[in-house]
Amino acid sequence: MARRRQIYEGKAKILYEGPEPGTLIQYFKDDATAFNAQKRGTISGKGVINNRISEHIFTSLAAIGVPTHFIRRLNMREQLIRQVEIIPVEVVVRNVAAGSLSKRLGIEEGTQLPRTIIEYYYKDDALGDPMIADEHIACFGWATQDEMNDIADMAIRVNDFLSGMFAAIGIRLIDFKLEFGRIWDGDFSRVILADEISPDGCRLWDIKTNQKLDKDRFRQDLGGVEEAYQEVARRLGLLQPDDDFAVLDLDSHRKKRGR
Ligand code: TMP
Repeated sequence: MARRRQIYEGKAKILYEGPEPGTLIQYFKDDATAFNAQKRGTISGKGVINNRISEHIFTSLAAIGVPTHFIRRLNMREQLIRQVEIIPVEVVVRNVAAGSLSKRLGIEEGTQLPRTIIEYYYKDDALGDPMIADEHIACFGWATQDEMNDIADMAIRVNDFLSGMFAAIGIRLIDFKLEFGRIWDGDFSRVILADEISPDGCRLWDIKTNQKLDKDRFRQDLGGVEEAYQEVARRLGLLQPDDDFAVLDLDSHRKKRGR
Protein backbone atom coordinates (compact mmCIF):
# COMPACT_ATOMS: atom_id res chain seq x y z
CA MET A 1 0.00 0.00 0.00
CA ALA A 2 1.36 3.42 -0.86
CA ARG A 3 2.36 5.47 2.17
CA ARG A 4 -0.02 8.36 2.57
CA ARG A 5 1.36 11.83 2.27
CA GLN A 6 2.13 13.72 5.45
CA ILE A 7 1.06 17.34 5.17
CA TYR A 8 2.26 18.69 8.50
CA GLU A 9 3.63 17.50 11.83
CA GLY A 10 2.93 19.56 14.93
CA LYS A 11 3.82 18.98 18.56
CA ALA A 12 0.79 16.82 19.39
CA LYS A 13 -0.71 15.91 16.03
CA ILE A 14 0.15 14.90 12.47
CA LEU A 15 -1.92 15.86 9.43
CA TYR A 16 -2.09 13.49 6.47
CA GLU A 17 -3.67 13.90 3.07
CA GLY A 18 -7.34 12.87 3.24
CA PRO A 19 -9.25 10.46 0.98
CA GLU A 20 -10.94 13.30 -0.94
CA PRO A 21 -9.85 16.80 -1.94
CA GLY A 22 -10.56 19.28 0.82
CA THR A 23 -10.16 16.66 3.58
CA LEU A 24 -7.29 15.72 5.88
CA ILE A 25 -6.65 13.02 8.44
CA GLN A 26 -5.71 14.33 11.87
CA TYR A 27 -3.59 11.85 13.89
CA PHE A 28 -3.28 12.35 17.67
CA LYS A 29 0.14 11.57 19.17
CA ASP A 30 1.01 10.82 22.79
CA ASP A 31 3.77 13.45 22.64
CA ALA A 32 3.41 16.36 25.03
CA THR A 33 5.30 19.62 25.10
CA ALA A 34 5.13 22.67 27.29
CA PHE A 35 6.69 26.12 27.43
CA ASN A 36 7.06 26.25 23.66
CA ALA A 37 8.56 22.76 23.52
CA GLN A 38 11.31 23.45 26.05
CA LYS A 39 9.77 20.62 28.07
CA ARG A 40 9.01 17.39 26.23
CA GLY A 41 7.50 14.09 27.24
CA THR A 42 4.92 11.46 26.46
CA ILE A 43 1.55 10.97 28.07
CA SER A 44 0.65 7.35 27.45
CA GLY A 45 -2.75 6.98 25.77
CA LYS A 46 -3.23 10.77 25.48
CA GLY A 47 -3.72 10.65 21.71
CA VAL A 48 -6.50 8.10 22.02
CA ILE A 49 -8.27 10.08 24.74
CA ASN A 50 -7.89 13.47 23.05
CA ASN A 51 -9.23 12.03 19.79
CA ARG A 52 -12.36 10.84 21.66
CA ILE A 53 -12.80 13.98 23.78
CA SER A 54 -12.34 16.28 20.81
CA GLU A 55 -14.78 14.21 18.73
CA HIS A 56 -17.35 14.44 21.52
CA ILE A 57 -16.94 18.20 21.95
CA PHE A 58 -16.85 19.09 18.24
CA THR A 59 -19.91 16.92 17.56
CA SER A 60 -21.78 18.58 20.42
CA LEU A 61 -20.76 22.05 19.21
CA ALA A 62 -21.95 21.25 15.67
CA ALA A 63 -25.29 20.25 17.18
CA ILE A 64 -25.70 23.74 18.67
CA GLY A 65 -24.73 25.37 15.37
CA VAL A 66 -21.00 26.08 15.78
CA PRO A 67 -19.36 25.11 12.47
CA THR A 68 -16.24 22.92 12.89
CA HIS A 69 -13.69 21.11 10.74
CA PHE A 70 -14.63 17.72 12.26
CA ILE A 71 -16.20 15.17 9.87
CA ARG A 72 -15.89 11.82 11.67
CA ARG A 73 -13.58 9.75 13.82
CA LEU A 74 -11.81 7.06 11.77
CA ASN A 75 -10.14 4.98 14.46
CA MET A 76 -8.53 5.22 17.90
CA ARG A 77 -6.07 7.95 16.96
CA GLU A 78 -7.40 9.49 13.76
CA GLN A 79 -10.24 11.67 12.61
CA LEU A 80 -11.29 12.93 9.21
CA ILE A 81 -11.43 16.72 9.06
CA ARG A 82 -12.05 19.44 6.51
CA GLN A 83 -8.93 21.11 5.21
CA VAL A 84 -8.83 24.76 6.25
CA GLU A 85 -6.49 27.71 5.94
CA ILE A 86 -5.45 28.04 9.56
CA ILE A 87 -5.79 31.59 10.88
CA PRO A 88 -2.49 32.18 12.69
CA VAL A 89 -4.16 33.43 15.86
CA GLU A 90 -4.59 31.37 19.03
CA VAL A 91 -7.75 32.43 20.83
CA VAL A 92 -7.63 31.99 24.61
CA VAL A 93 -10.84 32.29 26.64
CA ARG A 94 -10.51 32.75 30.41
CA ASN A 95 -13.11 32.49 33.17
CA VAL A 96 -10.77 32.14 36.14
CA ALA A 97 -7.23 33.50 36.61
CA ALA A 98 -4.48 30.90 36.03
CA GLY A 99 -1.32 30.29 34.03
CA SER A 100 0.18 33.20 32.13
CA LEU A 101 -2.57 35.63 33.22
CA SER A 102 -1.78 35.04 36.90
CA LYS A 103 1.94 35.27 36.23
CA ARG A 104 1.83 38.39 34.05
CA LEU A 105 -0.63 40.41 36.12
CA GLY A 106 0.02 38.98 39.59
CA ILE A 107 -3.54 37.76 40.05
CA GLU A 108 -3.84 34.77 42.33
CA GLU A 109 -4.55 31.52 40.53
CA GLY A 110 -8.17 30.50 41.06
CA THR A 111 -9.57 34.05 41.25
CA GLN A 112 -12.92 34.17 39.45
CA LEU A 113 -12.73 36.88 36.77
CA PRO A 114 -15.52 39.49 36.91
CA ARG A 115 -16.12 38.84 33.21
CA THR A 116 -14.88 36.40 30.60
CA ILE A 117 -11.70 37.53 28.84
CA ILE A 118 -10.68 36.71 25.26
CA GLU A 119 -6.99 37.04 24.43
CA TYR A 120 -5.17 36.60 21.14
CA TYR A 121 -1.72 35.14 20.52
CA TYR A 122 0.18 35.12 17.23
CA LYS A 123 0.71 31.48 16.26
CA ASP A 124 4.44 31.43 15.62
CA ASP A 125 6.68 28.98 17.49
CA ALA A 126 9.87 30.83 16.55
CA LEU A 127 8.51 33.93 18.30
CA GLY A 128 7.09 31.90 21.21
CA ASP A 129 3.42 32.69 20.33
CA PRO A 130 3.43 36.32 21.55
CA MET A 131 0.27 37.91 22.87
CA ILE A 132 -1.21 40.38 20.38
CA ALA A 133 -4.00 42.95 20.21
CA ASP A 134 -6.98 42.98 17.86
CA GLU A 135 -5.29 45.79 15.95
CA HIS A 136 -2.28 43.62 15.03
CA ILE A 137 -4.59 41.01 13.49
CA ALA A 138 -6.21 43.48 11.09
CA CYS A 139 -2.99 45.43 10.50
CA PHE A 140 -0.97 42.41 9.41
CA GLY A 141 -3.88 40.82 7.52
CA TRP A 142 -4.04 37.62 9.60
CA ALA A 143 -7.84 37.90 9.61
CA THR A 144 -10.39 40.54 8.62
CA GLN A 145 -12.47 42.46 11.15
CA ASP A 146 -15.58 40.51 10.05
CA GLU A 147 -13.73 37.22 10.59
CA MET A 148 -12.58 38.38 14.04
CA ASN A 149 -16.15 39.31 14.95
CA ASP A 150 -17.31 35.80 13.97
CA ILE A 151 -14.40 34.26 15.90
CA ALA A 152 -15.19 36.20 19.08
CA ASP A 153 -18.90 35.26 18.82
CA MET A 154 -18.03 31.59 18.35
CA ALA A 155 -15.48 31.67 21.20
CA ILE A 156 -18.16 32.98 23.59
CA ARG A 157 -20.68 30.37 22.44
CA VAL A 158 -18.10 27.62 22.86
CA ASN A 159 -17.30 28.92 26.35
CA ASP A 160 -20.97 29.00 27.38
CA PHE A 161 -21.56 25.51 26.09
CA LEU A 162 -18.38 23.96 27.50
CA SER A 163 -18.76 25.66 30.90
CA GLY A 164 -22.18 24.02 31.26
CA MET A 165 -21.06 20.69 29.86
CA PHE A 166 -18.13 20.45 32.28
CA ALA A 167 -20.07 21.83 35.27
CA ALA A 168 -22.55 18.98 34.78
CA ILE A 169 -19.73 16.49 35.41
CA GLY A 170 -18.17 18.35 38.34
CA ILE A 171 -15.49 20.18 36.40
CA ARG A 172 -14.78 23.91 36.39
CA LEU A 173 -13.66 25.30 33.02
CA ILE A 174 -10.88 27.71 33.97
CA ASP A 175 -9.61 28.61 30.48
CA PHE A 176 -8.99 27.11 27.05
CA LYS A 177 -7.43 27.76 23.65
CA LEU A 178 -9.19 27.64 20.28
CA GLU A 179 -7.96 27.77 16.71
CA PHE A 180 -9.99 28.70 13.67
CA GLY A 181 -9.61 28.12 9.94
CA ARG A 182 -10.98 29.54 6.73
CA ILE A 183 -12.82 27.48 4.12
CA TRP A 184 -13.58 28.70 0.63
CA ASP A 185 -16.70 28.30 -1.48
CA GLY A 186 -15.86 29.96 -4.80
CA ASP A 187 -14.98 33.56 -4.01
CA PHE A 188 -16.57 33.42 -0.57
CA SER A 189 -14.96 32.23 2.62
CA ARG A 190 -16.12 31.55 6.15
CA VAL A 191 -14.43 30.74 9.38
CA ILE A 192 -14.92 27.45 11.24
CA LEU A 193 -13.54 25.96 14.45
CA ALA A 194 -10.42 23.84 13.82
CA ASP A 195 -7.63 22.00 15.69
CA GLU A 196 -8.86 20.16 18.82
CA ILE A 197 -10.47 20.74 22.20
CA SER A 198 -8.98 18.46 24.85
CA PRO A 199 -7.23 18.59 28.25
CA ASP A 200 -4.06 19.60 26.31
CA GLY A 201 -5.48 23.06 25.63
CA CYS A 202 -7.93 23.56 28.50
CA ARG A 203 -7.59 24.06 32.23
CA LEU A 204 -10.09 21.81 33.97
CA TRP A 205 -10.38 21.72 37.76
CA ASP A 206 -12.50 19.44 39.89
CA ILE A 207 -15.32 21.65 41.22
CA LYS A 208 -15.08 20.35 44.78
CA THR A 209 -11.35 19.78 45.30
CA ASN A 210 -9.79 22.15 42.70
CA GLN A 211 -7.68 19.17 41.59
CA LYS A 212 -6.16 19.84 38.15
CA LEU A 213 -7.42 17.47 35.44
CA ASP A 214 -5.41 18.81 32.48
CA LYS A 215 -1.98 19.36 31.00
CA ASP A 216 -0.88 21.50 33.96
CA ARG A 217 -0.20 18.14 35.67
CA PHE A 218 2.49 17.60 33.01
CA ARG A 219 3.66 21.25 32.89
CA GLN A 220 4.09 21.42 36.65
CA ASP A 221 5.26 17.81 37.25
CA LEU A 222 2.28 17.08 39.49
CA GLY A 223 2.12 13.35 38.61
CA GLY A 224 -1.06 11.44 37.74
CA VAL A 225 -1.07 12.89 34.23
CA GLU A 226 -2.53 9.87 32.41
CA GLU A 227 -5.09 9.38 35.17
CA ALA A 228 -6.27 13.01 34.87
CA TYR A 229 -6.93 12.69 31.10
CA GLN A 230 -8.70 9.37 31.69
CA GLU A 231 -10.81 10.92 34.45
CA VAL A 232 -12.08 13.65 32.10
CA ALA A 233 -12.95 11.06 29.44
CA ARG A 234 -14.61 8.83 32.06
CA ARG A 235 -16.75 11.68 33.42
CA LEU A 236 -17.79 12.59 29.87
CA GLY A 237 -18.99 8.99 29.52
CA LEU A 238 -16.39 8.19 26.86
CA LEU A 239 -14.58 5.61 28.95
CA GLN A 240 -16.04 2.94 31.20
CA PRO A 241 -14.61 2.77 34.74
CA ASP A 242 -13.03 -0.63 34.12
CA ASP A 243 -11.66 0.08 30.62
CA ASP A 244 -8.04 -0.91 30.41
CA PHE A 245 -6.29 1.72 28.37
CA ALA A 246 -3.47 -0.54 27.32
CA VAL A 247 -6.04 -2.86 25.76
CA LEU A 248 -8.11 -0.03 24.34
CA ASP A 249 -5.18 1.40 22.43
CA LEU A 250 -5.36 -1.19 19.68
CA ASP A 251 -3.85 1.01 17.00
CA SER A 252 -0.53 1.54 18.70
CA HIS A 253 -0.39 -2.14 19.64
CA ARG A 254 -0.84 -3.10 16.01
CA LYS A 255 1.87 -0.66 14.98
CA LYS A 256 4.28 -2.00 17.56
CA ARG A 257 3.71 -5.49 16.16
CA GLY A 258 4.37 -4.14 12.68
CA ARG A 259 0.86 -4.68 11.31
P1 TMP B 1 -1.69 30.25 29.41
O1 TMP B 1 -2.26 30.58 30.75
O2 TMP B 1 -0.39 29.52 29.48
O3 TMP B 1 -1.62 31.46 28.54
O4 TMP B 1 -2.70 29.25 28.71
C1 TMP B 1 -4.07 29.56 28.56
C2 TMP B 1 -4.81 28.34 28.01
O5 TMP B 1 -4.41 28.07 26.69
C3 TMP B 1 -4.57 27.06 28.80
O6 TMP B 1 -5.79 26.36 28.92
C4 TMP B 1 -3.61 26.27 27.97
C5 TMP B 1 -3.87 26.76 26.57
N1 TMP B 1 -2.65 26.83 25.78
C6 TMP B 1 -2.51 26.02 24.68
O7 TMP B 1 -3.39 25.23 24.36
N2 TMP B 1 -1.37 26.14 23.93
C7 TMP B 1 -0.38 26.99 24.24
O8 TMP B 1 0.62 27.04 23.53
C8 TMP B 1 -0.53 27.82 25.41
C9 TMP B 1 0.56 28.78 25.81
C10 TMP B 1 -1.68 27.70 26.13
